[in-house]
Amino acid sequence: MTKQTKTSWESSASWYDETVGEKGHYYHEHVILPKLLQLIDLKKRDAKILDLACGQGILARALPKHVKYVGIDLAKSLIRLAKSYAKNPLHTFLELDATKKLPLPKKEFSVATVILALQNIEDPRLLLKNAFHHLQDEGKLFLVLNHPCFRIPRQSHWGIDEKKKLQYRRMDSYLSFQKIPIQMHPGKQTEMTWSFHHSLADYSKMLRDVGFTILQMEEWVSDKKSHGAKAKMENRARREFPLFLTLACQKT
Ligand SMILES: C[S@@+](CC[C@H](N)C(=O)[O-])C[C@H]1O[C@@H](n2cnc3c(N)ncnc32)[C@H](O)[C@@H]1O
Repeated sequence: MTKQTKTSWESSASWYDETVGEKGHYYHEHVILPKLLQLIDLKKRDAKILDLACGQGILARALPKHVKYVGIDLAKSLIRLAKSYAKNPLHTFLELDATKKLPLPKKEFSVATVILALQNIEDPRLLLKNAFHHLQDEGKLFLVLNHPCFRIPRQSHWGIDEKKKLQYRRMDSYLSFQKIPIQMHPGKQTEMTWSFHHSLADYSKMLRDVGFTILQMEEWVSDKKSHGAKAKMENRARREFPLFLTLACQKT
């Protein structure tokens, strides 16, 4: 059996909590949470969410009060922080590996979410299988990804075409699987995480193999605005190249 990579963000937990805080980092707050909540239908009184790789529980704090929530993450310190922020008695946080068998009832949840975390999991199929087992029939799964077509650590870059006065996106590779070490702070060897790149076709195959149908794809851009000499090209590039890809899937 090949050795599993350690993918917990335990060593970066303090830094991650400082970055995310109580309300989320910029993109949580301005893009991901508002758009995701619009996409998930949480009006039903019995809505129950399983948030896989929940970090310090940012989604929980954005939910309507009636929604039951279980967040799991491998990083002990992030779960401790999530519990310290939690005010809703309907919310539970557990330190667990989302790729291993979970001590939770089967077919319990109406919704499962994985926010900016599937690309930090070495074998996403194992996590997807867990989502499948713990979702009710026809339950929904929402995956928020760093857009795999435009954002691959070390393989995607901005460039400027001076002649056309255009900012372009350069992709040095896309179809091949990549396992990429990420140094969270220059100089601090201990604070590192992993990113795993898969193509869109890989994700769609994984989802189909596990038993999910993709219902909808959304591509979310940054709402930031540049000012100054390069504003026009930078703002155009922001509108053209989405940061995030969200897949809304259903257990079939
Ligand atoms: C980028 S953070 C995202 C956290 C959170 N969803 C958010 O949006 O703030 C990725 C998370 O994946 C967690 N993680 C990595 N591998 C995991 C695994 N096998 N099981 C559970 N969590 C895992 C890390 O500990 C980290 O908290």
